[in-house]
Amino acid sequence: MNIAVIGTGYVGLVVGSCFAESGNEVVCVDNNADKIAKLEKGIIPIYEPGLPDLIERNVRDGRLKFTTDLKCAVEKSKVVFIAVGTPTTSSGAADLSAVHAVATAIGKALNGYKVIVTKSTVPVGTAETVRKLICKETREEFDVVSNPEFLKQGAAVDDFMRPDRIVVGADGPRAAEILRELYAPFLRTGSPILMSDVRTAEMVKYAANAFLAARISFMNEISNLCEAVGADVDMVRRGMAADSRIGSAFLFPGVGYGGSCFPKDTRALAQTGRESGTPMRILEAVEAVNNEQAFRFVNRVVGHFNNNVENKHFALWGLSFKPKTNDMRDAPSIKIVEQLLAKGATITAYDPEAMDEGRRIFGNRIEYAANNYECLNGADALLLITEWQEFRNPNFDRIKAAMRQPLIFDGRNIYESGHIRSLGFTYYSIGRK
Ligand SMILES: NC(=O)c1ccc[n+]([C@@H]2O[C@H](COP(=O)([O-])OP(=O)(O)OC[C@H]3O[C@@H](n4cnc5c(N)ncnc54)[C@H](O)[C@@H]3O)[C@@H](O)[C@H]2O)c1
Repeated sequence: MNIAVIGTGYVGLVVGSCFAESGNEVVCVDNNADKIAKLEKGIIPIYEPGLPDLIERNVRDGRLKFTTDLKCAVEKSKVVFIAVGTPTTSSGAADLSAVHAVATAIGKALNGYKVIVTKSTVPVGTAETVRKLICKETREEFDVVSNPEFLKQGAAVDDFMRPDRIVVGADGPRAAEILRELYAPFLRTGSPILMSDVRTAEMVKYAANAFLAARISFMNEISNLCEAVGADVDMVRRGMAADSRIGSAFLFPGVGYGGSCFPKDTRALAQTGRESGTPMRILEAVEAVNNEQAFRFVNRVVGHFNNNVENKHFALWGLSFKPKTNDMRDAPSIKIVEQLLAKGATITAYDPEAMDEGRRIFGNRIEYAANNYECLNGADALLLITEWQEFRNPNFDRIKAAMRQPLIFDGRNIYESGHIRSLGFTYYSIGRK
């Protein structure tokens, strides 16, 4: 099938490459000419495991192309995916300006029947607006389908290739059949393709993300209570996770969730609730708890230094919002760094993949280290913010030797308290003794 994917970001690039890998002819479109120029030269603008090989192979075999020419890409395609960003507006709603602009451009380019697929995470009713915008520009036949994406950054290629489920919201059989055919190669292991009406499909994505975010905030609140009453959240978590009705995923307390999805999607769903007279009270609390969690961490650090961190120097391990990505959108590290800088502290940071992003966000307001040990030189404390694999089992003697004092604030509970303390460290974590 000939496919156009509009928006070549974390989602569009993975979606385009994976569809090319299954034999389709794919053109990835973006209005960021610099990004497209880099991709054409083989430079991948994001870090995502497995993606460079996939892109390289499919470009070489002629199935994957990049362009800024939306019109040309749409004209050649039978299916057009919209995968542009939908960031948060000041009211908390999703900013749909890019989706709308693309819909109008698609309308202008239509030259025969096509399926237009909203892959971006968009509020209920957006596919309908997309249809109206396209209708204004053309008399050609087309269908608009909602096909939300559930991939996780850091495991995006794997998730796309072996999805838990595919959700397709279509109002007619013609478009539904085309999507079924397109996804068939990815569903050989028996994962379901769930067909629904368009509005329901749009809702599934928000409900899923909101629920996962709720699990994290719930555990963060439980961990805060554990601290207050002297319980150990690790064992509480394991005791909960062993219950098959609960399961183990998304029960890890920490410095709060971040990233390009949970914060904006919970806000957007809460806003949809407010607009439709159905306040999402649980969701409002999920967000409020999350907003506080990074500040609780900062307060603990500052509290250790008798509420004065002026001229204290901190080593920060991890900038990305989670491991295996360079993405720092809404990352807890940003809140933590900004708070500590405002209180007069200095910071050296290290992240395996997000150093360029860090430099873009903080500039020369913080220092950057070439590796995690160099980061520690002269530090008054180590703050562990992102649980990258390479931070899990470090050489604690080297850590101790580099620091001004052996003090660790573990924002992800990756170390074993007893062990760390036996090595002579003062050790703080989340919800544990
Ligand atoms: N990142 C994730 O893990 C994830 C997972 C599932 C769903 N989503 C959703 O997918 C959508 C895209 O997310 P992302 O993380 O890939 O965003 P992104 O910011 O990485 O990528 C969006 C791309 O769209 C391009 N773009 C914007 N306006 C355009 C236009 N008018 N024409 C052409 N290109 C344009 C941008 O230049 C950018 O490259 C969002 O709605 C997001 O919520 C993201």
